[in-house]
This record gives sequence, C-alpha cells and structure tokens, in this order.
Amino acid sequence: MSDGPDPASNSEPTAPLHRRRPRYSGKNPRRFEQKYKELDPALHAATIAKVLASGKTPAGMHRPIMVTEILETLAPRPGEIAVDCTLGYGGHAREILARVVPGGRLLGLDVDPIEQPKTEARLRALGFGPEVFAVQRSNFAGLPRVLASAGLTGADVILADLGVSSMQIDDPSRGFSVKHAGPLDMRMNPQRGKPASALLASLRPEALTRLLTDNADEPYAAALAPLLAGRAFATTAELANAIRAGLPRLNKDAADLTVRRVFQALRIAVNDEFSALDALLRALPASLNPGGRVAMLTFHSGEDRRVKKAFAAGLRESVYVAIADEVIRPSPAECGANPRAAPAKLRWARKG
Ligand SMILES: C[S@@+](CC[C@H](N)C(=O)[O-])C[C@H]1O[C@@H](n2cnc3c(N)ncnc32)[C@H](O)[C@@H]1O
Repeated sequence: MSDGPDPASNSEPTAPLHRRRPRYSGKNPRRFEQKYKELDPALHAATIAKVLASGKTPAGMHRPIMVTEILETLAPRPGEIAVDCTLGYGGHAREILARVVPGGRLLGLDVDPIEQPKTEARLRALGFGPEVFAVQRSNFAGLPRVLASAGLTGADVILADLGVSSMQIDDPSRGFSVKHAGPLDMRMNPQRGKPASALLASLRPEALTRLLTDNADEPYAAALAPLLAGRAFATTAELANAIRAGLPRLNKDAADLTVRRVFQALRIAVNDEFSALDALLRALPASLNPGGRVAMLTFHSGEDRRVKKAFAAGLRESVYVAIADEVIRPSPAECGANPRAAPAKLRWARKG
C-alpha cells in the first residue's frame, strides 16, 4: 500500500503545480486572501504603513489596545515572571517581554492553533528565545495547571485581553466575519467543540432567546429566536441575511448592530467564553505572587461586569490590596487611529 510518491524512486519529478494568486479587479483588493501584500508584512512594509495610517488593521495583523495604560498598571520590571493569557498577535507580550528582561520571562497562552505558531515565530525573530519566552496552547481557564507545568508557583504580572483577535475576525474562513461570507464556525480553536452552525441547528427558540439575552443583552432576542433556532445556516452571510429579514422595520444601522450582537452572543457560546473567564477570575488570586498585578481588557458589558465583581470581591476579602476605582477607557486619539479600541475597558488589581 502506498500513501504517496516513493522518495527513493528514480522517476522524473513532476513540476509543482503553479497556482496563480487570485486576481482582483480595481485598485484595492477586497477579499482577505487577495490581500497578499498585507499578509506578508516583512516584504510589504509600505502597504502596511498605508493601511495603518488610514485607521484600518492590515490583513493578518492585530493592533494591541491601550498598550501605554496596560504597561502603566502592570509596571513589569526586569526579573519578573509575566503571563499573557491571550497571546494573540503578541503585541502586548512583546512590550512586556522587553521590560521583564534581563532575568524575567513571559509565558504566552492562546487556544488558537492557527495563529499561535505564527506569533511564536514572529517573537522569536525579534530575539526572544525560549529562555525568556515560552508559548502554550492552552485555555486560560487552566492557568493554575499551566503555571504548575511550567514549574512556576505564581506570576508577578498577568494580562488578559479578552475576545478575538483581528486575525481571527478578518479571516472569513474562521467564520467570525459579519462583513465577508464564510462558513458559520466561530471557534477560536477549530479542532475542538462545535461550530456556530451546529449550535444554532441544535437550539430550541427558548434556549436561543436566553443565549442572546445573556451573552449580548439582545433587545430583539424573543423576536429573532423562533426565526433562527433549529435552522441549518451554512454561512455567516446566510445568518446575517436571516437576521435582517426577520427585523424588516429596523433601519440599516440598527439592523447592522443587531447582526453584530447576535454574532457576539453565538461566539461567546461557541467558545464557552464566560465559563473560561469565571474560571480565570477564580484562579487569579492564587496565581499571583505577593505584590503581583493583573490587568484585564474587556470588550462588552458581560465581560466587564464579571471582572468588576470579582475584583471588588477580592478587595473586600483582602486578597487584593488595590483595584481600579474606575474603569479605564482608551483615549479619543487611540479610538480615532484604531476604531476597534473604542469598546475596550481596562481594569486592574494588585495582590498584597
Ligand atoms: C484580543 S486577542 C489578544 C491580542 C493580543 N493582546 C495582542 O496584542 O496581539 C485575544 C486572543 O485570546 C485568545 N483567547 C480567547 N479566549 C481564550 C482563552 N479562554 N484561553 C486562551 N486564549 C484565549 C484568542 O484566540 C485571541 O488570540
């Protein structure tokens, strides 16, 4: 039985099939896979700079949010142990790493098997070797186990920048995109769990109403649920169209917002995001070294409520000696330069 060509065979090698890059009409590519220049940042710095200057995020990249504020609150110092629970593109990790060396190290966690190896390679290319930077494909819900397996009793600095990265949202094949049709998937780790299409197909209207309300405060949950629950939507576009068709009296902006909220609610359910966040918040006090600091960046009220409550409880119980009095928001300048920063809320806590 043969699985493929015999490497020892003498037959003429066949020339590899030449595949053309997809063509696009007009000046600017619209489809993700046509953005070959942005997708190869090392070769096309000028294109990247142009996209950034226009306030957009280049394909395949993520711009870290509230970096200055996060560094101020975490104050990483040489020799310290840092954990970035949501490594993503490595934007925050890179800045923290630069401040914990010499002597310190950073452990980066992410569940995404597609983006994590690329991020590891990028940070290695910047000179962060295995002695200062380690990566684990792991859910942050398992932080205590991850720390133990790395031989650590705690961390001095912990960051969690919740939700999905721009690389995940912008790649239609990952199934998060409201704008571009792709399979209705939404898994941060496509190797585990069920895609959003299967979840929707398995739900009854009452359960979907609850899900939309709990995960996105969706005001039209009761009207939408009977139209969407139990149906087999193959693509993100089919689902978005069904939401719009179900609320014909909404103007375009209101309908777009509803589509975004429904997508958010499904994404949270598909990735079990609230359970993971609750587990992380419970694990934080024991995972921080004395004097350790944690910063959490959230992007909607369901996340912020949980962080605020957990930090306040930690302060009451004297686990934390200080927490953020008020939520910290990105500056107008940052929101102008990167509209994806606009919903961000930062909270921090310090252990005694
Ligand atoms: C907003 S991005 C982080 C961006 C990162 N701070 C940067 O500067 O590039 C969130 C990342 O966290 C990951 N993620 C989300 N939930 C997670 C969880 N429960 N455990 C581990 N990683 C998670 C996602 O896969 C995504 O890559």
